[in-house]
This record gives sequence, structure tokens and C-alpha cells, in this order.
Amino acid sequence: MRILSAIQPSGTLHLGNYFGSIKPNIEYVGKAEESFYFVVDLHALTTMQDAEQLRTYRREAVLDILACGLDPTKAVVFYQSDVPEHTELMWILSTVTPMGLLERAVSYKEKVEKGIASSVGLFTYPVLMAADILLYHADKVPVGKDQKQHVEIARDIAIKFNNAFGDTFILPEPEINAAVAVVPGTDGQKMSKSYGNTIPLFAEEKVIKSAIMGIKTDSKGATDAKDPDTCTVYQIHKLFLDASAQKTLAEEYKNGLSYGDAKKKLLETYLDYFSAMRAKRSELEQNVKYVDDVLAEGAKKASAIAKKTMEKVRHSIGL
Ligand code: ADP
Ligand code: TRP
Repeated sequence: MRILSAIQPSGTLHLGNYFGSIKPNIEYVGKAEESFYFVVDLHALTTMQDAEQLRTYRREAVLDILACGLDPTKAVVFYQSDVPEHTELMWILSTVTPMGLLERAVSYKEKVEKGIASSVGLFTYPVLMAADILLYHADKVPVGKDQKQHVEIARDIAIKFNNAFGDTFILPEPEINAAVAVVPGTDGQKMSKSYGNTIPLFAEEKVIKSAIMGIKTDSKGATDAKDPDTCTVYQIHKLFLDASAQKTLAEEYKNGLSYGDAKKKLLETYLDYFSAMRAKRSELEQNVKYVDDVLAEGAKKASAIAKKTMEKVRHSIGL
């Protein structure tokens, strides 16, 4: 079983990214016999046109996933752009991809609605993602709900290619962690960097503190009974707890825990939960050579497989 996932280096990691994507993906990847987890820097170009920023963000994405527990002795970790076969395969796949397939992609429409410039690259983003997946003959692709359609598109493209040129690609399947809910932001809406309502993972403690203390609550008095189901502080706090600890905390809310104290408890849990990861992140930041070696080793392993796939593909299509 070959598992593959990837992360877009698009900014500072927040709690929504962690519980919604990084954590389940790393756990899933860690269980596989063979796995790939890489930083899709070429995808990031569809929304980012600042060289210094991309350079910083892609490095940060590597530090983030390693600090969050990705084991580079198990998973192949690399920058997408270090393996040029991704873009070569993308072109070939684009020639068997019906326009209609991409026109139905929800993510493209949403991005354009958000105001992102609609370039050809943004439109063909799912074809590059299909190349990412098919190049390594991945069976399963753990992704957040929002990426399910993209994996299905990759599967459709594989079918089109296999029909035209003979069996070449394994049909990948999305693996969605159904237990993962949408993580609310400090204003109660979905946490997202575009809404400015995030709680970052690796920011300075005072930034995290002020984000948590700023979570919006209703106007119930300090000792009034609170409803955990509608309280954003609780909804965030419960992500860190097992079922029995959730129940105990919910009781405290019902018994009149003040919002101030509830936030303090959340901050404590938060810092405690991420403390080892935050320490690891600082250590990795200092250890430039180690991180460079991980990336170089990963690119080497990925290239060897990618080259083999491309030999087969070129032969199949008549090149
Ligand atoms: P943002 O909304 O901050 O721009 P991205 O779209 O870059 O975040 O998200 C990267 C991944 O993190 C997505 O695949 C998505 O599954 C996950 N994710 C982002 N925000 C949340 C959230 N609030 N709850 C759950 N998962 C999330
Ligand atoms: N589109 C994915 C996201 O925004 C990132 C991605 C690119 C990806 N290529 C991939 C995810 C291949 C899984 C497999 O989160």
C-alpha cells in the first residue's frame, strides 16, 4: 500500500490546518509501508507571486510537518519542484483531461470568487495534483474534505490515460478522515487565514495567548451556566481531549465556569499539547543541515521512482 499526501506552503500553520489536515495525514502516512509527504511549491505559485515569501513559506512548511511528527525515515519528504517529472507528466495528462472535468472543480470557482486571479495555472491546478499522485502510483491519498474532488479528478484522469494508452496508472482513492470536523476560528466561523480568525501553532506565546483570550463568546455572566455546544472556546478545547475529558469539561461549563477561566484552561491545554512540537520546531530551525539533508534524500528517492514512471509513460504515448 502506497500512501501519498502533500501540503501547500501557503503561510503560517493554524489549528484548523493541524486538526483538519496535518495531524490525520501524518498519522495515516506514518502507518503505511511506503509513503510520500511533500511540499507543493509549484501549486503555491497559483496564489503567490513573491519570491522571498515562497522561499520562506516552503521552508516553513517542511519545518512544520517535521515538527508535527512526520518521520522522514518512513516518509519521502521533498519539494515538488525538485522533481521536474511532476510538470512533465502534468502536460501529458492535460492532453487527456476533458475541459469539462476541470470546469466542474469547485475549488477553482471558490478561489476565483475569493478574488484570486484566474490564471491558466489556477484552472489546471488539479492536473498538476493528478501528476503528483499518479507519478508515484499512490493507492490512497489522505486529504481534507475540500480536496476530495481533486483526488477524484486525478482518478478520472488516470482512467482516461489508461483507456487511451493502456494500463499505466493505479487508480488512487481519497481517504477522508470523517471524524475531523471543521475547526472554528476565534470568531466562531470556520478558522481560515483569509478570515483573520486563526490561532497559530508556532507563533510566540503572547500571540497565541491574545488569540485565545480574544475568542468571541456570548454575554452570559461569570457564574451563569454555559452551553458547551454553542461555545467556541469549548468547541476548540474539545479537539485536544478524549471523550471522557470532554464530558468532564462540558460539565464544568454547565456548572458556571467563567469564560475567562475557560480560556485560561484552553491556553494551558494548548501550550501543553504543542510544547514538544514547538521545541522540535525551534531545534529544526537551528539545524539547517539536517533539514537540507532530509530534502535532498527525499528528492533523490522520489526522482528515482518518478523517472521510472516517466520512462513507461513516454514509451506508452509514443515518445
Ligand atoms: P486556509 O483556509 O487557512 O487558507 P487552507 O485552505 O490552506 O487553509 O487549508 C489547508 C488544509 O487544512 C485544507 O486541506 C483543509 O482540509 C484544512 N483546513 C483548513 N482550515 C480548516 C478548518 N477550519 N477546519 C478543518 N480543516 C481545515
Ligand atoms: N491541493 C492540496 C491542498 O491544497 C495539496 C496537494 C497538491 C496535494 N498535490 C497533492 C494533496 C497531492 C494530496 C496529494 O491541500
